[in-house]
Formats: sequence, structure tokens, C-alpha cells
Amino acid sequence: MDQQHVEDDLALDQTLITEDQIQDRLAEMAAEITADYAERDILLVGVLKGAVMVMADLARSLDRHVEMDWMAISSYGSGTKSSGVVRILKDLDTDLSGRHVLIVEDIIDTGLTLSWLVANLRSRGPASVEIATLLRKPDAVQNDIAVKYVGFDIPNAFVVGYGLDYDEKYRNLRCIGTLAPHVYS
Ligand code: PRP
Repeated sequence: MDQQHVEDDLALDQTLITEDQIQDRLAEMAAEITADYAERDILLVGVLKGAVMVMADLARSLDRHVEMDWMAISSYGSGTKSSGVVRILKDLDTDLSGRHVLIVEDIIDTGLTLSWLVANLRSRGPASVEIATLLRKPDAVQNDIAVKYVGFDIPNAFVVGYGLDYDEKYRNLRCIGTLAPHVYS
């Protein structure tokens, strides 16, 4: 699904970030990561399901070897907001001892999921844990999480596409669009 879909779909308001803007920004982030980790191995940890697209494109923008692993976690929350109480549905296959971990996320909304995840991964003895996210919302900034690589700071709208879903749909939209308020209000 591409940008034309946003124009044709009544549930979508407008395109917030185009496919080209996403790819350009990921290339810039990849260059920063390459410079920062020059002498170190990287273990990319993707958080299912939303981070699948970011992981695929960010990893391919890196002109170096990386390892990838995945976690699936579920947040006990009411409605669309996460609570920070998290359950692991699928754990990593990799031993983190001495590893340089870079968590890859699609979006940080409240920041509660990542606060929990960073603490959980740090307890496993890695050499370092950093975060790369494509999108960050205003509330995340208030929750004081140190995020090393941020693609775009976005307004507090309901966004879909590029891994982000509404009712499990729109993850395969190539750009990021805003959902029309009448759909979820
Ligand atoms: C999204 C996103 C983050 C989390 C961020 O996942 O991928 O993991 O919410 O929210 P927070 O900052 O408020 O904690 P979601 O729970 O929607 O699952 P999904 O990735 O499978 O869509």
C-alpha cells in the first residue's frame, strides 16, 4: 500500500511522512550508527510487531555486519495506552552478556514499554543498551528515556503505516499517515 491509498481511504486523514522521507532519515540514522559503533559489534533487537519495517530498512542501510534478534512483548493496558506492566511473549535467542544492544522501535508513545524493556535487557549483563526509534511522540519526552537515535518527533496524532497498525491493519502502508478521528473516537 502506498501514498495513493491514503488519498483513497476514508479512514485515513493525510500523509504525515512520505516513503522517501522515511528512507532518507533511516539512511542518516544508519550513518550515525555506523560512526558511533565503528569498533563494536552490534546486536539489533527488534520489538514485534511494529518494528519489522524499521528493522528491515535500517539494517539494510547499514554497510556493515549486524546481528538481529526479536522480542515480542505484550503490555497490559486499558484501551490504546500502555501501562508499563509488560509480559514477554517471545524472548531473545541471544545471550546479551558483553553485547552492544541497539533496540529498534517504530514508535515511542508514552515510553513505558521501553522503560521496562531497557531495564529488563540491562539486567542481562550487556556491554551497552541504546535505542533507535523511527517516531517519538511528545509524552515520551516527558518520561525521560534516553533515546540515542530518533527519526522524527511527531505530534500527538493516531498514526498508522510502516509497521504501525490500527486494528492490525495498515502495517503494510509504505508511508506514515494519520487516522481520521471519526474512526477511533
Ligand atoms: C507499540 C510500539 C511500541 C509501544 C510504544 O507497540 O511498537 O512497542 O507501542 O508504546 P509506549 O511508548 O506507550 O509504551 P504495540 O503495543 O502497539 O504492539 P505492536 O508493535 O505489535 O503493534
